[in-house]
Amino acid sequence: MTPAARLQAAIEILDEVIVSTRDDGPPADAIVSRYFKQRRYAGSKDRRAVRELVFRAIRRSAERPQSGRCVALGLIEEQPDLGELLGQPRGPEPFDAEEPTAEASFVPRWLEAELSPLVERGEWPALLERAPVDLRVNAARTTREALLSDFANSDPTPLSPWGIRLPPESRIDDHPAYSAGLVEVQDEGSQLIALACGAAGEERIVDLCAGAGGKSLALAAAAPRAHILATDTNRTRLSRLPERAARAGAKIETRLLNSPNELAELADWHEGADLVLVDAPCSGSGTWRRNPEGRWRITPDRLDRVIATQERLLDIGAELVRPGGRLVYAVCSLLSREGAGQIERFLQRHSSWISESPPIGGGRIDGQGRLLTPGHDRTDGFFVARLGRPC
Ligand SMILES: C[S@@+](CC[C@H](N)C(=O)[O-])C[C@H]1O[C@@H](n2cnc3c(N)ncnc32)[C@H](O)[C@@H]1O
Repeated sequence: MTPAARLQAAIEILDEVIVSTRDDGPPADAIVSRYFKQRRYAGSKDRRAVRELVFRAIRRSAERPQSGRCVALGLIEEQPDLGELLGQPRGPEPFDAEEPTAEASFVPRWLEAELSPLVERGEWPALLERAPVDLRVNAARTTREALLSDFANSDPTPLSPWGIRLPPESRIDDHPAYSAGLVEVQDEGSQLIALACGAAGEERIVDLCAGAGGKSLALAAAAPRAHILATDTNRTRLSRLPERAARAGAKIETRLLNSPNELAELADWHEGADLVLVDAPCSGSGTWRRNPEGRWRITPDRLDRVIATQERLLDIGAELVRPGGRLVYAVCSLLSREGAGQIERFLQRHSSWISESPPIGGGRIDGQGRLLTPGHDRTDGFFVARLGRPC
């Protein structure tokens, strides 16, 4: 592909990403892969170059742009030599003076007031930096020290005792330690959520929003004799868990739930769990480093809906905790209403519950929980709170 054709490809992909973020479609990464599956003539250098243009363009614009061309125009303003590609064969048509340019910004304007006050303006660029690849060592089978030298350019993560940090874009799918179930890819922030749970011994644990089981697996590695039930309403995600558990040598029971009947389907666990983890669906504002187009997905309506779901899931989780047990709430979000505000409202509804300090390093106190941020902690953004049910 010529440089002009690469720029045109980036514009076409950006158009698809814009539609996808409006209609709840697949992530930008998947759209890039699909685009090139249909164009086998493109080589790996073309793919890399186009992907780089697409992601630079997405990172640059906090607001969903009108079209791929207007984001590209923003890129051209920053890098004028791209402008020379306009009008070349297979390249984009030249722009006319009237065409709008996507404005450069980090955070959608309407969300600025929703951010936790801890995330000051100086931290905003870090929300979009390329994230490292963090691995979690399977503590049930090996140690970090034993594995560190198996990975080139690796460092121990500073906050999680289980973490190994690799440079951005590192691939480990065919590394022998991965195939042997000795490591999983997991951001250090996610590892800290599992640590905050303090799972131990033969505890009975429910991971209510388990997804594909990232945190269930970390809990199983920390407490291999625990009885862990992983539930979710998403069949596709949950169905990936048994295979991952088998690779890690972990015993995790799964149960697919049907919203809005979750509580009835968990009747056998009513007041029966030592620990319930509610890793709730959220705005994803803590993961913009990986999914910068997430800023284009979120709308005031969607945010209100997800906040209502979090509240409902917290109340369901609370019903499953035995007297004297604990509930850990986490969201990969930096928005106060999803984090500190959500817990403040929970404690108003459940006035006998007490907030406990999550036993983790890093983060800053935010209301009754802790907030990890890319700028302060070099992790994805997470809010985590630990709540104890009185005996
Ligand atoms: C943040 S993700 C969980 C990520 C997962 N814990 C991990 O570590 O990889 C939130 C999950 O909540 C699930 N979810 C949404 N509504 C739910 C509900 N009503 N009951 C249970 N899970 C729900 C979603 O399907 C999604 O997988």
